[in-house]
Amino acid sequence: MTNVDALISTMNLTKVYNGEVKALDNVNLNMREGDFLAVVGPSGSGKSTLLNLLGALDRSTSGEIEFAGELLSKVRNLDHFRSRMVGFVFQLHNLIPTLTAFENVEIPMRATSLRSRERVRRVNELLDLVGLADRGRHLPTQLSGGERQRVAIARALANSPRLLLADEPTGNLDTINGAEVMAIFKRLNQEKGMTVLVVTHSPVVARTTDRIITLRDGRIVRDQPIDNPYLQDLRELRDTDLGQALLSGKLPNEVQGIGLESILSDLQKILLNV
Ligand SMILES: Nc1ncnc2c1ncn2[C@@H]1O[C@H](COP(=O)(O)OP(=O)(O)OP(=O)(O)O)[C@@H](O)[C@H]1O
Ligand SMILES: [Mg+2]
Repeated sequence: MTNVDALISTMNLTKVYNGEVKALDNVNLNMREGDFLAVVGPSGSGKSTLLNLLGALDRSTSGEIEFAGELLSKVRNLDHFRSRMVGFVFQLHNLIPTLTAFENVEIPMRATSLRSRERVRRVNELLDLVGLADRGRHLPTQLSGGERQRVAIARALANSPRLLLADEPTGNLDTINGAEVMAIFKRLNQEKGMTVLVVTHSPVVARTTDRIITLRDGRIVRDQPIDNPYLQDLRELRDTDLGQALLSGKLPNEVQGIGLESILSDLQKILLNV
């Protein structure tokens, strides 16, 4: 075992599709129980591939994942492992249209030994947790987009997973509903100690977590805690075209003459050190 504290460790995790596309390239990542983290990066950088491997939806080409003390490559029945350990939330909620919100949340429990009365209690508890206690009888078409996504979150929690994985969970939602989804994740993390990993394109969404991992070309190029949101802003500035221009000392024409020249060396020092 590489890291005794970790819920999940990846060791040189690599995924090559069709023998040619290297979607993940030697990724080493540790997540502790109770982590709340975001994975960001350009389209095609390997975010969904990483999420799928961590959630045992797919197998790696090489390298290992250790999940709660088990090497996934040695797990015989990945379906069983996944249904006990991982909850998924995707950009499209994938609710079954002919079933009510209650029944959608209940489905993953059907494969367990939970008695029906216990199931009903748990489904109601989960619907309450996502603020939909009074919507159990609604079909997905009778719910708003944000509500549907919250049902999907409740469903992902049905079997009390150790890890909640969300791939662009706010991608189809407006700002307010997206913020509500992230607030539910934060509450789950802070109040129930749930380990949550969210893939997102949005820096605003990423900043609501505690740690941001940046992927590029299948590699982790940055792994930073969000200690201080203002420092985070400065780091983001550093990575913009303007930030890079400031660091190189070559100011673009558009920002010449507004006073940046006189503070350039101080700005460079700050951006180099954040
Ligand atoms: N099933 C597949 N077969 C072949 N290539 C794939 C497959 N899935 C993903 N890829 C390739 O692997 C690379 C990483 O894809 P991935 O879906 O992980 O990216 P991503 O970071 O999630 O992108 P996006 O932000 O667009 O969702 C891409 O080059 C993609 O084309
Ligand atoms: Mg993706």
